[in-house]
Amino acid sequence: MTSPSDPGATPRPQAGATPPAPVGDSTRAIRAASRTPAVLQRPTSVPIFQTATFTSADAESLAAVVGDARAGYSYSRLSNPTTTALGDAYAEIAGGEAGIALASGMAAIHAACAAVLRAGDRVVAPLAAYGSTRVQLGQDFGRFGVEVELVDVTDLEVVDAALAAAPTRLLYAESSANPTTFVADHAALAELAHRHGAFYIADNTFASSHVCRPLTLGADVVVESATKYLGGHSDIIAGVVAGSADLIEAVSRVRTDTGAVLAPFEAFLALRGILTFPVRMDRHGQNARALASWLERQEGVERVLYPGLPSHPQHAVVERQWRPDNAGGMLSFEVAGGRAAGGAVIDTLELTERTASLGSVHTMVVHPPSTSQRQLSDEELLASGIRPGLLRVSVGLEDVEDLVADFERGLAVARGVAAATPALVDA
Ligand SMILES: Cc1ncc(COP(=O)(O)O)c(C=O)c1O
Repeated sequence: MTSPSDPGATPRPQAGATPPAPVGDSTRAIRAASRTPAVLQRPTSVPIFQTATFTSADAESLAAVVGDARAGYSYSRLSNPTTTALGDAYAEIAGGEAGIALASGMAAIHAACAAVLRAGDRVVAPLAAYGSTRVQLGQDFGRFGVEVELVDVTDLEVVDAALAAAPTRLLYAESSANPTTFVADHAALAELAHRHGAFYIADNTFASSHVCRPLTLGADVVVESATKYLGGHSDIIAGVVAGSADLIEAVSRVRTDTGAVLAPFEAFLALRGILTFPVRMDRHGQNARALASWLERQEGVERVLYPGLPSHPQHAVVERQWRPDNAGGMLSFEVAGGRAAGGAVIDTLELTERTASLGSVHTMVVHPPSTSQRQLSDEELLASGIRPGLLRVSVGLEDVEDLVADFERGLAVARGVAAATPALVDA
C-alpha cells in the first residue's frame, strides 16, 4: 500500500510557468493549514490520520486509487491508514490472513454475516448468545428471508442434526457465550460446518484472542467487539473481523457500502489498548480464577460458571483449545433467592461498576435478564440456560482481595434477602 501522499502516482503535468502564489487571506489560510509535514522517521505510535479525504497527484491516479486499480487512500469510508493498522494488528493476533476494523462489535458481526449470506439462506446459531446478535440474525437478516435455527451449540449431535436438516450456509457460535460462559468446541463445530458445506463464524469477544484463537481451530471468520478486551478501558466502541483475504475483502465491501467504518481516533485507542492486551488479559485471568474459586465455596451461591474451573460443563474443551494458564476474565454465578437476591448483590457492591459492558479495567457486574438479554422472554431465557438470579461478572484489574471483600458483603445481604423471601428461592 502506498503512503497517503501517493508517491507511486504519476507526477502532475507542469503547465510551464510557476503557478501564482495565493493572494487572498482565505486561500492562503487554507493552503497554509493543509500542508502535511514530511516525516522521514517512523513514529513509535500509529498516527491518527484524522482526515476524510486524501489528495492524489492527478485525476488519473485518484481514479485508480478509488477504483482499487492502485493501492492507496482516497476517502476514509473506503479505507484510512489508522483503521487499516488496527485491522492488520487484529489479523496478526487472531492468526488470520487478513483483518478489518469496523464501527462496533455489532457492525463487525453484521458485515461478517452479510459477506456470506444471501436471501433465503439458512443459519444455525446458538440459543445461548449475546441478545443483540440473536436479534440481528433472527429479525434483521430474517426480514431478508434468512432463516435462523437456534440450537444448543455445545451439543454436537444437535448441531449435526440441525445442519443435516436442510442446506445451511452459516454456523455461528460464541467462544464463551454471553452471559452463561458455555464454551463452543471450535474444532468440532468447524469440522461439522465444513462437512455440511457451511461457513463457520465465531464471536470471540468473551474469551478474547489472547485466550482462544478460533481461526487456528478451523473457523472461517472470527469477530470480536474491540469495545471490550482489545480496547480494554471502556472508552471506545469498535469491532474487528479476521479471516482469509478473500472473506475479509467481502467484509470490506459490506463495510464500504453500509458505511460501518471506525473513526481514526477510535482505531488509535484500540491500537493503544492492544499494546497492553496480553498483560491485561493475564491479570484478568488470574483475578477471575481467584474470584470464581472463592465464589464456589460460598454459602448461598448455587452455581459458578467459569471456564477455568473443573466444574464448568465444557472444561474439557477449554483444556484442549484455550490457553493452558488463562481462562479469561468472564464468569457468571447464581445466588439462592433468584432475581431479588441477585439484585441485592449488585446493589450492595461498592467497588464494581453496574454497567452493561465487559472487558474493562473496571470490574463490571450485570443482571443479564434485564440488560444484555432483555430482548428474550422468560421461556427463551431458561432455554438459553439463564436462570432469573444469574449475575455476570467481568472481572477487572483491581486487587483481588478488594473484590472478594466486596462480593462477601454482597453475598451476606443476598443471604438475608433469600431467607426473608423464601417464596422467591425458585423464582
Ligand atoms: C459477545 C458479544 N458480541 C458482540 C457484542 C457487541 O459489541 P459492541 O457493543 O461493540 O457492538 C457484545 C456486546 O456486549 C458481546 O457481548
